[in-house]
Amino acid sequence: MIPTIGILGSGQLGRMIAIAAANLGMRAHIFAPDADNSPAGVVAAFCTTASYDDEAALTAFAKSIDGVTSEFENVPSASLAILAKHLPIVSPSIKALDTAQDRLSEKTMAQSLGIATPRFWQIDTEQDLQTALAELDGKGVLKTRRDGYDGKGQLRVSSSDDIHDIWAQMGGKALILEAFISFETEASFLIARDKSGVVTHFPAAENHHKDGILAHSTAPAPLADEIIADGQKAVEAIANHLDLFGILAMESFVTSKGEIIFNEIAPRPHNSFHWTIEGANCSQFEQLARIVGGLPMRHVSMSHAWRMENLLGQHAEQIAGLQSMDEVSTHLYGKTGYKTGRKIGHITYPLRDSDDKSYKVD
Ligand SMILES: Nc1ncnc2c1ncn2[C@@H]1O[C@H](COP(=O)(O)OP(=O)(O)O)[C@@H](O)[C@H]1O
Ligand SMILES: [Mg+2]
Repeated sequence: MIPTIGILGSGQLGRMIAIAAANLGMRAHIFAPDADNSPAGVVAAFCTTASYDDEAALTAFAKSIDGVTSEFENVPSASLAILAKHLPIVSPSIKALDTAQDRLSEKTMAQSLGIATPRFWQIDTEQDLQTALAELDGKGVLKTRRDGYDGKGQLRVSSSDDIHDIWAQMGGKALILEAFISFETEASFLIARDKSGVVTHFPAAENHHKDGILAHSTAPAPLADEIIADGQKAVEAIANHLDLFGILAMESFVTSKGEIIFNEIAPRPHNSFHWTIEGANCSQFEQLARIVGGLPMRHVSMSHAWRMENLLGQHAEQIAGLQSMDEVSTHLYGKTGYKTGRKIGHITYPLRDSDDKSYKVD
């Protein structure tokens, strides 16, 4: 019997999970409101185009698959609960989705586990904003609690800003205000956890953002062993707390004192680990497909440093040149139409010795 894994969501992460599943001799079934002709749909064996609250479609989907995961955290956890009636275990877990969908919940959880976070305030009214800004000595970041990605739904603020103006721009949604962290660098940690609670870590990545969007990641992150150990301990505590089944990334800030400060989690494959396709013995997508498809996890290792750079709509003209380079692996997501500021693909290449090249002219 060929196992079939179900994937909620039809974007590039679903596409790369489906490709990894195919390499393992499995089939992928995509479920999304726009599954057909999507980045994931075009490489999957089966597609269901239906809304995430269509109980009949979810039930039929559950009966057609052996395991399920979600490629993004904003799938309603109620959809996972419906699938859980028919499948022994669902990825990433209802608790993981519920927590990761809300920046306030994820920071509160990190704090409860003793993991350092930026100071944060729940903001529901203009008065809340006024009170919090008075406490904030300097710069902050105001974010929507839900649905933000790639820096969208965020505003840099300072205690001297006009509160009416800020409220006019951001008010009306549930918000969180965070202290601005002047970090030395950003690092992400990725963990895989199987149904018996056994975990495997990936080498950590160091990340650089431009305009709120990840520009490039380098792995292994050139950080002291103690800093890496702190980050891995934190992501492991979170994975255990969330009863995680599958993979979980934690984004963090690293201060000049070597302290790891929690930023956010994503209970799914993460952009800063796309280099694992070429750079590690087992990619994040393969590890997830293995866990969901019932195969054993692999211990993850790499033999030298690797870099990933994102390709956004505005980089489209550079693709042909990159595709002609021997050392560069190009991944395009098959999106129709290239929009400025939207991810259309990525490249990876090995970093040898102390070589610090960059292939993407920006
Ligand atoms: N509190 C903060 N202090 C400093 N920089 C921040 C803070 N919050 C976000 N940023 C910057 O903005 C980027 C995107 O913010 P993040 O909260 O990760 O949202 P997104 O969901 O869009 O990735 C971060 O990777 C970091 O570079
Ligand atoms: Mg982020």
